Amino acid sequence: MKQYLLLGQTLSFSGNPLLTPWENVTHHNSAGGVLITGDRITAVDNADTLKRAHPDATIVDYGDALIHAGFVDAHMHYPQTRMIASWGKQLIDWLNTYTFPEESRFGDRAYADAVAADTLDLALAHGTTTLTSFCTIHPESVDAFFGAAAQRNMAVVAGKTCMDRNAPDTLVDTVQSAYDDSKALLEKWHGIGRATYAITPRFSPTSTPDQLQVLGDLWAENPDCLMQTHLSEQLPEIAWVKDLYPTSRDYLDTYETHGLLGAKGLYGHSIYLEPREIDRLAEVGAAVVHCPTSNTFIGSGLCDVLGLARAGVAMGLATDTGGGSSFSMLRTMAAAYEIGQLRGDVLHAAQLMWLATEGSAATLHQSGQIGHLGTGAMADITVLDLAATPLIAQRVKSAENVWDQLFPTIMMGDDRSIKDVWVAGSRVT
Ligand code: GUN
Ligand code: ZN
Repeated sequence: MKQYLLLGQTLSFSGNPLLTPWENVTHHNSAGGVLITGDRITAVDNADTLKRAHPDATIVDYGDALIHAGFVDAHMHYPQTRMIASWGKQLIDWLNTYTFPEESRFGDRAYADAVAADTLDLALAHGTTTLTSFCTIHPESVDAFFGAAAQRNMAVVAGKTCMDRNAPDTLVDTVQSAYDDSKALLEKWHGIGRATYAITPRFSPTSTPDQLQVLGDLWAENPDCLMQTHLSEQLPEIAWVKDLYPTSRDYLDTYETHGLLGAKGLYGHSIYLEPREIDRLAEVGAAVVHCPTSNTFIGSGLCDVLGLARAGVAMGLATDTGGGSSFSMLRTMAAAYEIGQLRGDVLHAAQLMWLATEGSAATLHQSGQIGHLGTGAMADITVLDLAATPLIAQRVKSAENVWDQLFPTIMMGDDRSIKDVWVAGSRVT
């Protein structure tokens, strides 16, 4: 089997640096190597050791660049790629003004194909090897996304977005069609190649209780699938949920009472959680996905990443495009850092990199498979140029260690910082 030996600086993790001192679980090698055999990583070690042990491997020498696991975006909306960075609205107005009209176009398979292809290629150009995406109500939009991902051999998670109220006529399904279409799509795609299906109620305001219930039933019938939705993103949204579900204890309860709370549940945003909600998320082993560029761009608020992690909630990181304003997980880490600063929490570069790789992979229940630079993982790898722009290059000249070298790229980097990307053992760029 074909073997490649990538040489450079390497960065990997053996534990969660949000919960233990990052120094104990973070591994940096300034003269490291990564051996790829077929589609997998088969060794991570010193460059010299690997060169001696595998003299026939094809060497790709990245010099001082940093080799790490490909970024894993744990929550985004590929149908919003064409309207990213739309001006001047907060969540509900933003959905009605920009998002719903654009999403109405995805019944057109050719349009969905084009946007899916562009989205995946843009993600790869930004060093992101896994996307977790909402689609639209149209089954065509799901076929387009999984099809485009299969062509690129990318591990993706996606599902048909279900909504049967509070959206335009062009963009609502029904209780029955949400169940039937989701079931047909998960049977078609879940576990095929690198595809994972996520049952996807958009959020409680756009589903009737009956629709939430049939999706909860479908999840119980298919417990292998993930479930993704939005939770407690903006205060007016939370007040609206209270009106729509007057008997619910809180926002999470609108999901919980309909079978939509579980270990394989992904709850995007989750900014204004009440103590009961945090306890329940932790108890069932559910995940919160932090979407910092979106939370600043749409004006949502400051998610308590460290507090939730310490309460036992699994935490991932995501762009939430097009509510998020960048495809770059570097920019997303920068926003997570800035939100931490506004909360009085200082996130270390190691913690940010962990969230963007290992943390997100864990929320998708793919730990050790993706987002991981270690033996046995799929060879989804990103190589960062740590001096990609004149501004960053002059800054890192005086860097004394890898963190001092890496942090300016986290704060100021973008797709220009991506030197190379590998997906399932094949070089993409
Ligand atoms: N809540 C419900 N739908 C959406 C969406 O598309 N984007 C964001 N950011 N929040 C949502
Ligand atoms: Zn979202």
